[in-house]
Amino acid sequence: MTQFENIQQQLRAQPKKWLITGCAGFIGSNLLETLLQLEQTVVGLDNFATGHQRNLDEVRELVGPERWARFTLVTGDIRDLAACQRAVEGVDYVLHQAALGSVPRSLKDPLTSNDVNVSGFLNMLTAARDAAVTSFVYAASSSTYGDHPGLPKVEDRIGKPLSPYAVTKYVNELYAEVFARSYGFKTIGLRYFNVFGKRQDPNGAYAAVIPKWIAAMIAGDDVFINGDGETSRDFCYVENAVQANLLAATTGDENKNEVYNVAVSDATSLNVLAANLKRILGTHGVEYGKELVYRGFRDGDVRHSQADIGKSSKRLGYAPAYRIGQGLEAAMPWYLANH
Ligand SMILES: NC(=O)c1ccc[n+]([C@@H]2O[C@H](COP(=O)([O-])OP(=O)(O)OC[C@H]3O[C@@H](n4cnc5c(N)ncnc54)[C@H](O)[C@@H]3O)[C@@H](O)[C@H]2O)c1
Repeated sequence: MTQFENIQQQLRAQPKKWLITGCAGFIGSNLLETLLQLEQTVVGLDNFATGHQRNLDEVRELVGPERWARFTLVTGDIRDLAACQRAVEGVDYVLHQAALGSVPRSLKDPLTSNDVNVSGFLNMLTAARDAAVTSFVYAASSSTYGDHPGLPKVEDRIGKPLSPYAVTKYVNELYAEVFARSYGFKTIGLRYFNVFGKRQDPNGAYAAVIPKWIAAMIAGDDVFINGDGETSRDFCYVENAVQANLLAATTGDENKNEVYNVAVSDATSLNVLAANLKRILGTHGVEYGKELVYRGFRDGDVRHSQADIGKSSKRLGYAPAYRIGQGLEAAMPWYLANH
């Protein structure tokens, strides 16, 4: 039995109370679905800045009324300490996902990204410490590797941040460490690498590359590649990220006050990604015949990103069940049904 199967069995036998911040978003709603399927009690906190009621409605449909009855939504903002305190009452495990994602968004409006991602994070951290929760797991980011040239990325070798977003995510790690040192409140940061899957928003100026390209290909629109297409990423299917969160929340104290990479440890170039998407859409009867449109490199983007997952494997028992191709196959029916 894998460590993840083991944890799921334990949670079913002894259900816990969880708080998911950002529960109406992409990763948050996938965490919510899994936890409710495992008969857990879940509180969600969201202000719907980038999340959607339709994500919650979809989870309700998938889990059914009995499990859904174990979910309570607190509509509120993590910039409001009182909302964080209300949401975390009586909670065992916190999965803190709420933040404003996107490097370009943070370049355009660094103040709001900082308010939400830094002040909001500090509120949630403080509220969780005061509520003496068993575990606090938070969404960190591969952007923290910044300009460090080393590959694959190892947790303790980081460079200088390349965007305001990267600064905010690094500051989260610094606060987390200081809370362990100053108050003995030990947390876990999960440095996600380009997570993708169902319910990731394909719309808006700040959409991530996979949902954006799938939507463009389905619609027969142009697909734009920033740079020469040889930029590479370690694309990680959302079920792998869900696994990492559950393992992190339930791990022993000796594995806390640490950050862990959450990825697959594969590098896929944008050119290869586009070809894969075309191929998989083709198997669903969607032929995309247009040439890709190349344009300039985007500010703040790193050239290559690939994780070493040795630390998360060894210490958390993390074993990604999906490589990129399997994740894309699994996610495609959702995109075809929801374009
Ligand atoms: N998706 C990725 O590839 C990726 C990579 C690295 C890190 N992350 C981090 O993972 C987390 C989840 O990202 P996601 O991709 O699911 O994004 P998302 O935008 O789909 O979800 C974020 C959620 O947080 C909510 N939120 C935003 N500001 C809030 C506020 N002030 N108060 C309460 N709720 C608020 C949004 O409404 C949304 O539901 C974020 O912290 C993000 O920075 C994501």
